[in-house]
Amino acid sequence: MNGPRAGGWALVTGASTGIGREIARLAARDGWSVVAVARTRSLLEELAADLGARRGVEVLPIAADLTEPGAADRVFDETRRRGIEVDFLVNNAGVGFSGWFHETASRRHRVMVSLNVGALVELTSLVIPGMVERGRGRILNVGSAAGFVPGLGFTTYAATKSFVLYFTEGLAAELRGTGVTASLLAPAAVATPFLDKAGIPEPPRWQRWSVADARDVARAGYRGALRGRVLIVPGFGLPVALLSRLFPRRSWRWIGRLVARRFLRNLTARKEES
Ligand SMILES: NC(=O)c1ccc[n+]([C@@H]2O[C@H](COP(=O)([O-])OP(=O)(O)OC[C@H]3O[C@@H](n4cnc5c(N)ncnc54)[C@H](OP(=O)(O)O)[C@@H]3O)[C@@H](O)[C@H]2O)c1
Repeated sequence: MNGPRAGGWALVTGASTGIGREIARLAARDGWSVVAVARTRSLLEELAADLGARRGVEVLPIAADLTEPGAADRVFDETRRRGIEVDFLVNNAGVGFSGWFHETASRRHRVMVSLNVGALVELTSLVIPGMVERGRGRILNVGSAAGFVPGLGFTTYAATKSFVLYFTEGLAAELRGTGVTASLLAPAAVATPFLDKAGIPEPPRWQRWSVADARDVARAGYRGALRGRVLIVPGFGLPVALLSRLFPRRSWRWIGRLVARRFLRNLTARKEES
């Protein structure tokens, strides 16, 4: 199987902060040029200046809101206009929100679905024909350990990440023998701005061991994807994945409700304290 060459182009969504930024850094360190996509232009330009200057690679920042209709097409068209062939696609941009489904504004559900699912599928479908034609390529989809079980209190988010899990596994099987691979990175909690944006306060000190470092998670995803591994489940994500197989499906609705009640009660209490 032909592996993609370092020195080719990686396209990383959500490259302005967190896991995406760390993956962009790792790729650039290995000699990949990077198309960095997110909404915040200033952060992308900072990253481009940093990576470009230090590593001598090309970085193309594209500021785009991937929840807007046609945004994935515009990003892809921009790469084509510049003659860029994407050999490594990292679908990492994602948002989450915690709270009971019926108390959450419909706009939040729409944004989660259109970014975590819609943009990921669209970009993949735009990039993949070229990869298959060239007989080489890597796709890394960032899911979550939340995708292994029904995520009560996170219902829409967990469902989007379940989609990413099944989509990636199906794609990986379809792509066998083409030289292109699809991988899923499914971490549990990671220390990035995501937690705060999703409305999850910093865990108490005794619980911090369960929150992974963004660089470690990025490294696991980056290396696993280049090796063509299908499931990459770092840190605390692994016991969640294993337990999801161990207990019967219906028990997860019951376990999920217990966890969600406790989690959302703590969340409300901590929000009121702060
Ligand atoms: N942190 C965790 O605990 C955790 C656990 C499991 C899985 N994950 C997954 O990991 C992935 C990366 O998250 P992270 O933890 O690194 O969080 P993060 O630091 O908040 O990164 C999210 C990235 O997505 C971009 N983004 C958000 N909305 C966008 C939009 N509408 N259009 C384009 N880009 C957008 C953000 O940039 P802009 O705001 O500049 O657009 C940012 O670069 C997500 O898919 C998340 O679901 C995170």
